[in-house]
Amino acid sequence: MKIEKHAVFEGVYWVFAEGKKFLATKSTIKNFKIHGEQLFESKGEQFRAWDPYTSKLAAAIVKGLKTFPFKKGTRVLYLGSASGVTPSFISDVIGTEGLIYCVEFAPRVMREFLMKCERRENMLPIMGDARRPDTYEETIEGKSDVLYEDVAQPDQAEILVKNAEKLLKPGGSAFLAIKSQSIDVTKPPRQVFAQVLAKLEEKFNVLQAIELEPFDKDHLFAALTLKK
Ligand SMILES: C[S@@+](CC[C@H](N)C(=O)[O-])C[C@H]1O[C@@H](n2cnc3c(N)ncnc32)[C@H](O)[C@@H]1O
Repeated sequence: MKIEKHAVFEGVYWVFAEGKKFLATKSTIKNFKIHGEQLFESKGEQFRAWDPYTSKLAAAIVKGLKTFPFKKGTRVLYLGSASGVTPSFISDVIGTEGLIYCVEFAPRVMREFLMKCERRENMLPIMGDARRPDTYEETIEGKSDVLYEDVAQPDQAEILVKNAEKLLKPGGSAFLAIKSQSIDVTKPPRQVFAQVLAKLEEKFNVLQAIELEPFDKDHLFAALTLKK
């Protein structure tokens, strides 16, 4: 087995094992899996396989994402945390000095997510509706360095803008997973993506837009920064 640091992204690794190449993070909590991911041991450290088929951020990295604003100490606001798969990998990267506030409105997935948060002290659950940042802004200490949204809703762009206006630092980074099927099933995905990006350009600089096939069908992953 061989472990290599990602050429640029802090806290991201490649594990070469069993004749395959895995994207991975270093486990901050050993032997604590989030969804049955493979674990690899090397020189007293443990690495967790980060599967691009179950995490859109992993898919974006594998497909050539150029910016990665997460590092030790980063403060993140994450909208649509579900059971916490992607947040858990961000949690590994930002470490105990960082914080990731996770907003989710579905009670069933939130219950599952709460069990994951018990051992990850830097993951803070917020039971709330991402359309209403006014209902949780007081729970959040200061503005975030990074805003991440994966809610699969027709008003994805508006939700991002509302949260950025209140809770993202000027010039801060934002990532948005755009699911064309949630916005308009009658239009070709690329037409939907272009409309969403045009809307976002009023508030954000669009750094990169990555189609996530073959990992996620009809999804675009947009890397943005908030205009100052
Ligand atoms: C595609 S899943 C997220 C997967 C997760 N980001 C990951 O990578 O592990 C979308 C989640 O967003 C949640 N969601 C949708 N609309 C929401 C809203 N308005 N407020 C909060 N959560 C929302 C859904 O309940 C669902 O759990």
